Amino acid sequence: MKEKINSILTIAKEKLNSANEMQALEDLRVKYLGKKGELTGLLKQLGSLSAEERPKVGQLVNQAKQELDERIKEKVAEIKEAELQKRLEKEKIDVTMPGKRTNIGYKHPLSQVLDELKEIFMGMGFSVVEGPEVELDYYNFEALNLPKDHPARDTQDTFYISENTLLRTQTSPVQVRVMEKQKPPLRIISPGRVYRSDEVDANHSPLFHQIEGLAVDKGITMGDLKGTLETFAKRLYGEDAVVRFRPHHFPFTEPSAEMDIQCFSCGGKGCRLCKNEGWIEILGCGMVHPKVLENCGIDPEEYQGFAFGIGLERIVMRKFKIDDMRLLYENDMKFFESIK
Ligand code: DAH
Repeated sequence: MKEKINSILTIAKEKLNSANEMQALEDLRVKYLGKKGELTGLLKQLGSLSAEERPKVGQLVNQAKQELDERIKEKVAEIKEAELQKRLEKEKIDVTMPGKRTNIGYKHPLSQVLDELKEIFMGMGFSVVEGPEVELDYYNFEALNLPKDHPARDTQDTFYISENTLLRTQTSPVQVRVMEKQKPPLRIISPGRVYRSDEVDANHSPLFHQIEGLAVDKGITMGDLKGTLETFAKRLYGEDAVVRFRPHHFPFTEPSAEMDIQCFSCGGKGCRLCKNEGWIEILGCGMVHPKVLENCGIDPEEYQGFAFGIGLERIVMRKFKIDDMRLLYENDMKFFESIK
């Protein structure tokens, strides 16, 4: 019996030495120590031994079981450690390696300037609202005092989705949408994309951006309009900016004007930038036409308002000294880097 125990143990140890995988170890454990294992089997045979031998052999078998059990556990620990080392080796990170550089972008010049304009107007109590780019003829023209046969529609030809639905040609329809919903006092600006069926050239694009402005309250005058827009110009171009208002015509304002800024390149003498005019036009404005107020259910006897429309591209082009509008849409990173 003793020899048998020893020979089982020796074979088991040899097999154990050459086992290098968890599954092989588990198989060995079952083979020798499991319920039907070889060593366990020996314990069952103890009954056939004499009362004297029984405890001795029993002890030997148990010792052998214990020894084998310990060896298996050691081996399991060894394999686990080896696996861990292997994984650590594989996942090793060299913290001294230079990192991958991600290029962090920056805001497009149009967005930079728009943010600046928003800040300026919000500082004067205006809030920012948005309106739809796909607009009804009613809001884009009709309610703004431009009936179907109005000649001013010719300069604002656009893309029609249906007879009465179009891509808005101006941000002015937002004035109407706001006045229909909110009652005065009102002070809003509304930036956004507008569309016209214009050929692309240095000064035209079928898609461009405007910022609409509207203030409605009791007793608003042309003085409020001039004060607000002059303050805006000074905040944007510096305290020494000089502006002038020229009479103009827009169907939805009366009186109407255009605001020019004295050319900051030549100080009004005339140069290439201002095309020798000394002045640069930056926006259209006027007192909201009584008919427009009426169309929105606001009594023109009680309330007055002023409105303005700024072309964003124009301001951006002046600011970054760009003479071709297309550069703003081509997204050539070399160009953007050069004006950064
Ligand atoms: N919507 C006009 C345009 O696109 C610009 C404009 C002029 C807007 C005068 C206004 C305004 O609100 O009062 O040409």
